[in-house]
Amino acid sequence: MYLTMKKQSCVDPLLISAVLLLLLLATDCVVRAQTGSYFPITNIKDPYLQEVGQFAVKEYNRESRGELRFAKVLNGEEQVVAGYSYKLVLAAENGSVTTNYEAVVWEDPQQVTHLVSLNHVIDN
Ligand SMILES: *[C@@H]1O[C@H](CO)[C@@H](O)[C@H](O)[C@H]1NC(C)=O
Repeated sequence: MYLTMKKQSCVDPLLISAVLLLLLLATDCVVRAQTGSYFPITNIKDPYLQEVGQFAVKEYNRESRGELRFAKVLNGEEQVVAGYSYKLVLAAENGSVTTNYEAVVWEDPQQVTHLVSLNHVIDN
C-alpha cells in the first residue's frame, strides 16, 4: 500500500524541470517581444510600410517646408512600444538628387502616426 502510494505521487523531477524551463523560455520570449528592441522587417514591400514611408516624407515637408519626393522604402526595423515604432530607410528625391533618409515613425495605440525624426542616412 505504502509503495503504491509513493509511486503514484512521484512525478519525474526531470520532467518537471523540463516543463519549467520551457515555461521560462516562453515567458522570456513574450516579454522580449513586448518590451522590444528593434527587429528587422522582412516584408518590406508591404504596401502599408511604403505608406508609412510616404507619410514620413509628407510630414517632414509639412513641418520643415521641405520639398522631398518620396521614392520608396528600402528597408526597416520595427519595435513594439505603446503601439509600434518604425525605423525605415527610404529613398527620396531632393531636387534632382535621390538621397537615402532614415525616418522614425511612431504609430500610437490609437493608430495615429507621428513623425519622430527624418535624417540623412550617415554612410559608414
Ligand atoms: C535638400 O537639398 C538642399 C540643397 O542642396 C539642402 O540644403 C537641404 O538640406 C536638402 N534637404 C534634405 C532634407 O536633405
